[in-house]
Amino acid sequence: MKIGVLTSGGDAPGMNAAIRAAVRQADSLGHEAWGIYRGYQGLLDGDMEPLPSRACANILQRGGTMLRTARCKAFHDPDVRAKAAEKLKAAGIEALVVIGGDGSFRAAETLLREHGVACAGIPGTIDNDLPGTDRTLGFDTALNTAVEAIDRIRDTASSHGRLFLVEVMGRASGMLAVHTAIACGAEAVLYPESPDDSYEALVTQLEENWKRGKRSSIVVVAEGDAVGGRAMAVGERLKRDHELDLRVVVLGHVQRGGSPSALDRIWGSRWGSEAVRRLDRGERGFYLGEVAGALVAQPLSRILEPQPVPPGDLGRLVAVLAR
Ligand code: F6P
Repeated sequence: MKIGVLTSGGDAPGMNAAIRAAVRQADSLGHEAWGIYRGYQGLLDGDMEPLPSRACANILQRGGTMLRTARCKAFHDPDVRAKAAEKLKAAGIEALVVIGGDGSFRAAETLLREHGVACAGIPGTIDNDLPGTDRTLGFDTALNTAVEAIDRIRDTASSHGRLFLVEVMGRASGMLAVHTAIACGAEAVLYPESPDDSYEALVTQLEENWKRGKRSSIVVVAEGDAVGGRAMAVGERLKRDHELDLRVVVLGHVQRGGSPSALDRIWGSRWGSEAVRRLDRGERGFYLGEVAGALVAQPLSRILEPQPVPPGDLGRLVAVLAR
């Protein structure tokens, strides 16, 4: 069987590990892996070719994705999806391994439902915002990158007695923000799912910290819906209202790149292999995940469920540990 492999949406460290494992597992089972470049856009453009095992040499430790990626808005159009299904048929590709996040899995779910294309999803997004899995590829690496950056910022914060607002990615999810805040000992965290996600709650917390003698603080801010802008807006308001000598740092795409952590390499390898083994057994519409340490498979339709929220106790813990 010909199995297409594509990466779609934002790149994430660990995607290359998943590509390598899918390709090599396909090879070992006597299937032919095809690389589809630039995600669904490349599929529409017919940008694909056979991907032998040797083409995946030396990619395990690299960030980004060797297959490149794209966000393909056109795929929302049913006629465009029909065209994509035709392209697959014409190339003789019977199954797809889709490595990506929410939007990529929703596209796979429609391809399966509307055109019967067998699809296997591998969670690849630094946001860790997919239902049915505790982990997505890239989250662990991005988390460590953010923590390393904030440790450096902390040196300046404490030397100058300054407040820093550090914005991390995550789109509408606060997963990355909350975990980063715990791991770098932040004084506060703002994230959309928090019951205290308000300017007023932040000011109260900073005032309490000040009374306890804290002269420098790190506040981790989830980008939320205001991608690239929330920390800036909060910083401007704090400056205006309280005349604070503060600085804003937007970590941005620094978090998306870099060599994948060992965990992202290991899960990428496990999921890449498992996806192909399940397709080989005739399974048609699922995505893989990790729940409580175990590798699990979910029906593709689960992607339509609400995204998970960060554990509430983590948000509260940030405040307790900032004393
Ligand atoms: O989904 C991954 C992510 O990095 C989000 O955290 C962020 O909001 C978005 O992608 C940025 O997208 P782009 O790279 O297209 O600007």
